[in-house]
Amino acid sequence: MQKVLTNLPIGIFDSGVGGLTVMKEVISRLPDENLLYLGDTARVPYGTRSPETVNRYALESARFLISKGIKMLVVACNTASSVSLTLLKESLPVPVIGVVEPGAKAAVTMSISGKIAVIGTEATIGSGSYTRAIESINSHASVTGIACPLFVPLIEEGWTSGDVVTLTAETYLRPLKNNGADTLVLGCTHYPMIREIIKGVAGIPLIDSAVETAGEVKTLLEGRSMARQDAGVSSREFFVTDSIEKFINVGEKFLGHKILTISKIELGG
Ligand code: DGL
Repeated sequence: MQKVLTNLPIGIFDSGVGGLTVMKEVISRLPDENLLYLGDTARVPYGTRSPETVNRYALESARFLISKGIKMLVVACNTASSVSLTLLKESLPVPVIGVVEPGAKAAVTMSISGKIAVIGTEATIGSGSYTRAIESINSHASVTGIACPLFVPLIEEGWTSGDVVTLTAETYLRPLKNNGADTLVLGCTHYPMIREIIKGVAGIPLIDSAVETAGEVKTLLEGRSMARQDAGVSSREFFVTDSIEKFINVGEKFLGHKILTISKIELGG
């Protein structure tokens, strides 16, 4: 790829603030890359919506980032990755990476028994995306999917520790007691924020799809000679479809960095 094109940013989108857990991992592995982040905060959550609606929202978000000039798209949202990845790959002129395949691959590598559990939104679990991705790598694997719809609102309220979130985790993860799963995939952008609680309750190793996806982004950039060649300071720009202030308040906790350059935009009008 020409040097000037390698300077183009990587686009990352999510239904809201949660995809910043993916962006954080991308920053830690690829600090020199320019990044554009779009959080569709006016329409979050995607996880409770129909596939038709998720497809429409995902395409609108992706097209906005394409219009800004990106060299690659990371679909940080597990729900959009589960429902819309094929559509996005077919519709967009840049390489597209979702979070499901990297998470599934890492889970298969980690699991000894082949019994793998996945937690995510209703849409992600309902889509069967992780089950398909895991079984396509290991046809003997057996996957238990558990939808945990209360985690996202709790985490967005800042309830990332304490009795309520622990009790919620105990209730959701009860089916894992004695089911033999030896690996648990965090199949939602928000769950890394409560990973210690989930780990304590589940008592088995966790796979963080955000971490695995960032590794995949690096591999793809290097494999296709798309990594940024300029030595200048990298830029990070954010777009949201709802309140900037709210996004910064919650987002800086997810990202672990300051959010400085941010604009509000309209999608799908
Ligand atoms: N980003 C979503 C996901 O990873 C969680 C929030 C939502 O439901 O939109 O599935």
